[in-house]
Amino acid sequence: MTDQAQALRQLASTKFTDSTRSASRGSAKIITVSSGKGGVGKSNFTLNFALALKSMGKKVLVFDADIGMANIDVLMGVSSRFSLYHLLRKEKNIEDVIQYGPGDLPYIAGGSGIVDMLSLSEENLNFFISQIERISSEMDYILFDTGAGISKENMKFITSADYCFVVTTPEPTSITDAYALIKVVHGSYPEVDFSLVVNKAGDESEARQASEKIILTANRFLNLDIKMLGYVTDDPFVVKSVKRQIPFSIAFPTCEATRDVKRLALRYLAVPVPSESGPLTGIKGFMQRWLKRT
Ligand SMILES: Nc1ncnc2c1ncn2[C@@H]1O[C@H](COP(=O)(O)OP(=O)(O)OP(=O)(O)O)[C@@H](O)[C@H]1O
Ligand SMILES: [Mg+2]
Repeated sequence: MTDQAQALRQLASTKFTDSTRSASRGSAKIITVSSGKGGVGKSNFTLNFALALKSMGKKVLVFDADIGMANIDVLMGVSSRFSLYHLLRKEKNIEDVIQYGPGDLPYIAGGSGIVDMLSLSEENLNFFISQIERISSEMDYILFDTGAGISKENMKFITSADYCFVVTTPEPTSITDAYALIKVVHGSYPEVDFSLVVNKAGDESEARQASEKIILTANRFLNLDIKMLGYVTDDPFVVKSVKRQIPFSIAFPTCEATRDVKRLALRYLAVPVPSESGPLTGIKGFMQRWLKRT
């Protein structure tokens, strides 16, 4: 096990030492969408935020990183023929495992392949890296929709990505669990960049109160700055769209939740992100950190 981990680390550093700074330019920003508590709306947010970015001219790939749950498939009313599993086994190319949901949104089903990502042979790892780099260079954003909480796999996605969006609702249990997730991740990896999304908010003031609890506590006790990305209203049309298995921004383009996600995406794009001057960003940075954590 140690030998394999060592070999992977070596491989990662040799693969990525060539002009890392310039190679990361033009590469997709990698965002992990996570939460402390389950069922807070991560998958709905990921999907509709991705669709909003796409409608604003961005190239976005969604990656269902929730092991065994196939959240994105269900919300889009599609069934994946191929997944990460086939890519990691070199049975399929990246183009074959990318599926297209409503709104022509490209996504990859992770499924049981995520577990395989923890133990790849050198040959399959090389293939995977070359395939994922190819697609990443064509994308502006890659969004990982993860399961709730701090499992081993979630921790790797969160700490390998460029940004971590934490979704919470205004409920005290959801707020406490979101803070607990941030605290644990920050304790081991202080470089992780967190932003908050308050979902199922009664109104803007309730969303602000919820976010401030987390932001002020993190600032005071962890000396950590967390951004408030925005909020999405508690909207019965979301529940209706889930039942219809059509993303709410497509099924109900004028509902409150759609309006909120679009506004949030617009604001997100309006804020310049100084990623190019940062350390290692994009898919290369993601893979390097992922391998270091094997
Ligand atoms: N803005 C909203 N307004 C009303 N209901 C919502 C909203 N967002 C999500 N929901 C409800 O919450 C349910 C759970 O949402 P979703 O599956 O996106 O959560 P999740 O965080 O991805 O869950 P899990 O932790 O199981 O992956 C949805 O099926 C929907 O009924
Ligand atoms: Mg989900």
